[in-house]
Amino acid sequence: MMRIGFATSNPHKLAEVRRLLAGFDVVALDVGAVDETGETFAENACIKARAARGRAPVVVAEDSGLEVDGLRGAPGVYSARYAATDAGRIDRVLRELAGGASRRARFVAAVCALRGDGEPRVFEGVVEGVIAPEPRGDAGFGYDPIFIPLEGDGRTFAELGAEKDRFSHRARAFAKLATWLTTTTSSA
Ligand code: IMP
Repeated sequence: MMRIGFATSNPHKLAEVRRLLAGFDVVALDVGAVDETGETFAENACIKARAARGRAPVVVAEDSGLEVDGLRGAPGVYSARYAATDAGRIDRVLRELAGGASRRARFVAAVCALRGDGEPRVFEGVVEGVIAPEPRGDAGFGYDPIFIPLEGDGRTFAELGAEKDRFSHRARAFAKLATWLTTTTSSA
């Protein structure tokens, strides 16, 4: 089984990625506190991947976040830093949308993969949705309780649990990674 080193300290992301890369041996790589100074998800993902370079035959890192139209794309790359806790971050988004701004939103994920001494490869995934009037559901993490995917049945990601893998941003990005890993050789 191909070993993939996943640079993350987020146990929720690790659990999702182990589900998404079921045919691979996914091990977590702790890269400590990395300064996510990039302006895009892809840049931040590659900063984290480079911090773990060489610690597994394939090293991957992921950066992701929520973009809300009525907040001009915020929280975006600041999703993890929008407030001190998940509940605080959710409250802030709901408060900022209370005036009637557009609740259309999307989750975006960028995965950066480093294989051997090759160039970094980036794979992205997006899922469109709307921000719920109030949080619903206990599964998942982050903004899951307020995100309703357009392709679903009205349940939030936190109500869908593992069913979010059917159309999540992370599932889409990691599916592209899996295709690349299984269709190219390590010298590519
Ligand atoms: P990162 O660990 O720097 O990539 O931070 C991503 C942040 O975006 C997380 O801490 C969450 O707040 C949010 N986020 C990313 N993906 C998801 C998701 O699938 N569900 C809920 N929140 C997410």
